[in-house]
Amino acid sequence: MLEVRGGNPLGGTVQVRGAKNLVPKAMVASLLGETPSVLRGVPQIRDVEIVTGLLELHGVRVTPGVDGQQSDGELHLDPSDMAQGSIVDIDAHAGSSRIPILFCGPLLHSLGQAFIPDLGGCHIGDRPINFHLDVLRQFGAEVDKTSGGIMLTTRGRLQGTKVELPFPSVGATEQVLLTAVRAEGVTELRNAAIEPEIMDLIALLQKMGAIITVDTDRVVRIEGVDTLRGFIHRALPDRNETASWASAALATGGDIFVEGASQPELITFLNVFRRIGGEFEVEETGIRFRHPGGRLTSFALETDVHPGFMTDWQQPLVVAMTQAEGLSIIHETVYENRFGFTHALGEMGAQIQLYRECLGGTPCRFGRRNYQHSAVVSGPTELTGTRIDVPDLRGGFSHLIAALAARGTSQVHGIELINRGYENFLDKLLGLGAEVAA
Ligand code: EPU
Repeated sequence: MLEVRGGNPLGGTVQVRGAKNLVPKAMVASLLGETPSVLRGVPQIRDVEIVTGLLELHGVRVTPGVDGQQSDGELHLDPSDMAQGSIVDIDAHAGSSRIPILFCGPLLHSLGQAFIPDLGGCHIGDRPINFHLDVLRQFGAEVDKTSGGIMLTTRGRLQGTKVELPFPSVGATEQVLLTAVRAEGVTELRNAAIEPEIMDLIALLQKMGAIITVDTDRVVRIEGVDTLRGFIHRALPDRNETASWASAALATGGDIFVEGASQPELITFLNVFRRIGGEFEVEETGIRFRHPGGRLTSFALETDVHPGFMTDWQQPLVVAMTQAEGLSIIHETVYENRFGFTHALGEMGAQIQLYRECLGGTPCRFGRRNYQHSAVVSGPTELTGTRIDVPDLRGGFSHLIAALAARGTSQVHGIELINRGYENFLDKLLGLGAEVAA
């Protein structure tokens, strides 16, 4: 439990390192190489620990940089002794992550089989894996559901194929990339996700020897090759952590310099940040975000796949929106159930109404399906401290921001979930002047 005394602006510097939504996938890609890989900028977060454990269960040696420079987050990944891990161990280890599903392609190529335990991840909707399994079947894998997981096998080499995703899913696009690079022949993927983390994964695979073309209109073509080598790669910075700290600055009336933040992946976020009334300066080593004083302006936004407004930015920004003058509208079009975290904000004094209708310009696939996926925030409202149970990674960080913006003291339970994606967040908060005590 974390005791948070709110009401003070956060100020100072925090550092962001490699993106949580790229680093674990890059680590999985090391399975595809015939030689060891080196990944830099790896943050110390729970998702990295889980993937490290899973790789080790498959015989991969994962060691920090030879010179022991943990500060640079260097990891060496050596797959030369790769072997099928014990199903019981994999199952026990993977519980809280969705990354195991991305082991399928690399393991099928190298070992002819893969076991994937039932998946965890944040509780922000059903989060099915049907796209992944359909894709793997199209490559020629046999998929058998067993108690506790899924067993995949292949008789011969996986075959390149034509795939069209029903939705530009990040995970399913990664599944296709990690499988197609070593499949026989050409794979054409339509309706692919093109998030910056996907582009970074493509860059890394290209370093390994893959041949991947990204065309207009979300079409990706992959020419399968026989072998790949290891990579040396620095992960792109975490744009979602950056947006979280930016929202913290706005919600608490503070001023935060995010060292390591990179502008090009945040263009859409920065536009919204500015329209709401936040100020930012892009500097050579990072981005400074601040509340300029006075009232914030209400705003309507829709989350979307890249280059739209990223769903992971929505939750922290909603906290800042409770301090904006008038009605703000948020239409969540990526996850059907990502507003659960607003109940705690309501208890703190925020006025947030949820709707089943699509309150945005574009009707989405959740309209008329009984999902409360639109929110109207009426502000500004004073927030007061309360007892909070963290629901998921981004929702949890948003609750922390709300507690820091609120008058009085909050007791935040379940903060371990936040470790999944925010490196050293307690030290960072203390460094920004937050009054928090574990
Ligand atoms: N979907 C399906 N079937 C599938 C796969 C996805 O219906 O087989 C649906 C999902 O239910 C969801 C939508 O497609 O409604 C998008 O899901 P996507 O596959 O794009 O998400 P993901 O790969 O599971 C990653 C990030 C998420 C981020 C999303 C969207 C990682 C580890 N996770 O999830 O990050 O929100 O892409 O950009 O990369 C977070 O960081 O807090 C987080 C949840």
